[in-house]
Amino acid sequence: TETGYLSIIVLGASGDLAKKKTFPALFNLYGKGFLQSDEVHIFGYARTKISDDELRDRIRGYLPQSKEYAEDVSKFLQLIKYVTGSYDTSEGFQALDKAIAEHEISKNITEGLSRRLFYLALPPSVYPQVCKMIKSFCMNKSNLGGWTRIVVEKPFGKDLASAEEMSSQIGELFDEPQIYRIDHYLGKELVQNLLVLRFANRLFLPLWNRDNIDNVQIVFREDFGTEGRGGYFDQYGIIRDIIQNHLLQVFCLVAMEKPVSLKYEHIRDEKVKVLQSVIPIKDEEVVIGQYEGYKDDPTVPDNSNTPTFATMILRIHNERWEGVPFVLKAGKALNSRKAEIRVQFKDVPGDIFKGQKEGRNEFVIRLQPSEAMYMKLMVKQPGLEMSTAQSELDLSYTQRYQGVVIPEAYERLILDTIKGDQQHFVRRDELKAAWEIFTPLLHRIDDGEFKLITYKMGSRGPVEADELLERAGYVQTHDY
Ligand code: BG6
Repeated sequence: TETGYLSIIVLGASGDLAKKKTFPALFNLYGKGFLQSDEVHIFGYARTKISDDELRDRIRGYLPQSKEYAEDVSKFLQLIKYVTGSYDTSEGFQALDKAIAEHEISKNITEGLSRRLFYLALPPSVYPQVCKMIKSFCMNKSNLGGWTRIVVEKPFGKDLASAEEMSSQIGELFDEPQIYRIDHYLGKELVQNLLVLRFANRLFLPLWNRDNIDNVQIVFREDFGTEGRGGYFDQYGIIRDIIQNHLLQVFCLVAMEKPVSLKYEHIRDEKVKVLQSVIPIKDEEVVIGQYEGYKDDPTVPDNSNTPTFATMILRIHNERWEGVPFVLKAGKALNSRKAEIRVQFKDVPGDIFKGQKEGRNEFVIRLQPSEAMYMKLMVKQPGLEMSTAQSELDLSYTQRYQGVVIPEAYERLILDTIKGDQQHFVRRDELKAAWEIFTPLLHRIDDGEFKLITYKMGSRGPVEADELLERAGYVQTHDY
């Protein structure tokens, strides 16, 4: 509905995130007609001294290679202009502003709004200074209005204090509605589906509580280590890299109360509330580990105590969830790559089938790979005998939605930033509440107060984590 000129400025344009995620997502949006050539220009900004064409060549390698896309790819690349500059001096940002303004003028901006979207594909340590530069030199100046927005990505600090410091530095420069904190898990199809699933199905409404649900697991596994990213990863570890953000966002959507409406502030209000209801994590409900060989990575210090695996139990002190363990588990270099939510229901009271094959109802939402939802049910084993068996009601997306291409998380999220929809972005108080949950634990882990269990690459992770899960009440049931 908004018309006018849109400038997308990717800062850190020659870095990994920009090449692998940001530009390909922009290309997809372009291909789908969301970014019209006559209304959009893309600027890359970085320190490396290269030409427009050199940047385009670097990006090209990450875009679709097949012939059918060739024309779109070259048109898209023509939208990109490169500006060289440093992150802490004014000259570069003045040049950037000039380049944006020139294009706005060439597009006759006086007839529309000027919209400037700054995507910081940069290390967080430079966010505050870069935001300062943008604020000083690159704001939208159109008399007719428009906006300037900032997109940033985790890690937002290392603990509560550092996150709050960053929030207030950026908060002094930009208002909350201008700041888009990306958590790309919020852009995943089955994460976005959670709201519909929970609140548009009568079936789940009366069941989604402590009376019926025994335990919940939110699990992230990767079957590769930190190859090439050891330097970054070692400063953060798995809890800061995955659990405090990606898994916690999923946790919010599984556990929060029904929002007043679909307005993004209403949804985020509920997320904050459930985060604030989490009680301190107990030491005996935490297992941390590091895979064998992690320290062989030359970018990782030989004496690193950084966990690459963690399992812990979150408990919520409210009417709905009192007593229900939420097990959050994440690990690198495990036996498979998978992210899923498992909601396990309680046993049937007064079960008349006792002694036969037993099983609990379990609702599984697989975020990746191969998006799916399935419900484990007890059925009669087909045949003459009256015996029970466990089976599944299965909704696999590849089968049900054949031919539907599920958009990439970044693609959706960038589109939301252009539309001004903050539903799938992390609000400042939400970030604070998230850090409040993990900071005491992280500090004790950093001080070496937890035993770091070594596990083999390609394994399930430490057995202690399976034991913790069992203590949480999880009953292993077998897939049909
Ligand atoms: C990133 C983490 O945020 O998410 C990485 O920094 C991790 O360590 C990645 O590999 C996982 O994302 P996805 O979408 O592949 O599950």
